[in-house]
Amino acid sequence: MSAPSIAVLKGVILHGGSGTRLRPLTHTGPKQLIKIANKPMSQYALEDLVSAGITDIAIVLGDVHPERVREYYGDGSRFGCRITYIQQERPLGIAHAISLARDFVGDDKFVVYLGDNILEGGIAEYARKFEEGDADAMVLLAESDHPRDFGVAEFDESGRLVGLVEKPRVPPSNYVLVGIYFLTPSIFGEIARLKPSWRGELEITDALRDLLRDGGRVGHAFVRGWWKDTGTPEDLLLANQRILDRMEADFLDGRSVSGRVRLGKGAVVEEGARVVGPAVIGDGAVIGDGAFVGPYTSVADGAVIRGAEVENSIILDGAVLELRGARVVDSIIGAGSRVRAGGSVPRGIRLILGENSRIEL
Ligand code: TTP
Repeated sequence: MSAPSIAVLKGVILHGGSGTRLRPLTHTGPKQLIKIANKPMSQYALEDLVSAGITDIAIVLGDVHPERVREYYGDGSRFGCRITYIQQERPLGIAHAISLARDFVGDDKFVVYLGDNILEGGIAEYARKFEEGDADAMVLLAESDHPRDFGVAEFDESGRLVGLVEKPRVPPSNYVLVGIYFLTPSIFGEIARLKPSWRGELEITDALRDLLRDGGRVGHAFVRGWWKDTGTPEDLLLANQRILDRMEADFLDGRSVSGRVRLGKGAVVEEGARVVGPAVIGDGAVIGDGAFVGPYTSVADGAVIRGAEVENSIILDGAVLELRGARVVDSIIGAGSRVRAGGSVPRGIRLILGENSRIEL
């Protein structure tokens, strides 16, 4: 007997949007390229797709420096997949971005992954369930303490999904839509009939609501593991903590480096400096004399820290912190930025700095 033929899923990563809540970091590039634990956010999505066996992937680019996304991902071969780029001229909504993938999708089932969502445990088991089933769509749901900020699911007494509503004032449940949607081409007809929401966007929640209303089969699965939608600096720092907590790294017990720390190639921790994990130090980074890099800090490639204590922070590529006696916490320092001490430095500092900034304190 031959095995049942299972449709192969395609993948679509959304890489557009305005990223206003992450300014100034998003003045020079899309938010999905900001690194968390030294890896761009959207690479977690891409790797989840590839791990689930999905290697034909479209990336929908937005209008914030899309060339940087093409530069980073190229044709996908470095990541074990084939990438097609689609341009969204303006951020007209998630459903609008999805509609642009119609030709790419053809008659296939597909999964849309928002490039700023991180899901622990990946999507392989959900992808298999959707591939093998006959649903027109399948949504992933997570329990939330603040459902009013998300698309929310409504169930009947038997636990059947009967409705979906975007950012409701009175949420019908605490189960919110994770930014990963399993879809079939039937969604395109629903998107074509949508009207923009109060915020002027075509909402995927509305398209799925209409699909349900029109008798479509919309399945659901509750995510196990942790999920994060990373729209704000606080979200980035929380995601960074969580990933550093789970990363594979040896437990070190040295004088200058202790705890779970991943040191990149050519990274240097100088005499008189100290790194306490969980932390990740990128290739060629320098933790110089007098510096203390404390728990939940990611220092990207080529960054230099001298003198300062840094904790619970993300220091991006090539940034330089020369701040003797300062304590930098809960901060995100953009790539190539320089922060230096001029006169006396305040002890506790929190900075959210865009790329290539110059600050003298
Ligand atoms: P959002 O976080 O809702 O929107 P945003 O990126 O514009 O951020 P902000 O509210 O801070 O201005 O977007 C969710 C995801 O969908 C994110 O990965 C970006 C993506 N997206 C698109 O690709 N195209 C779009 O038109 C919109 C609105 C979002």
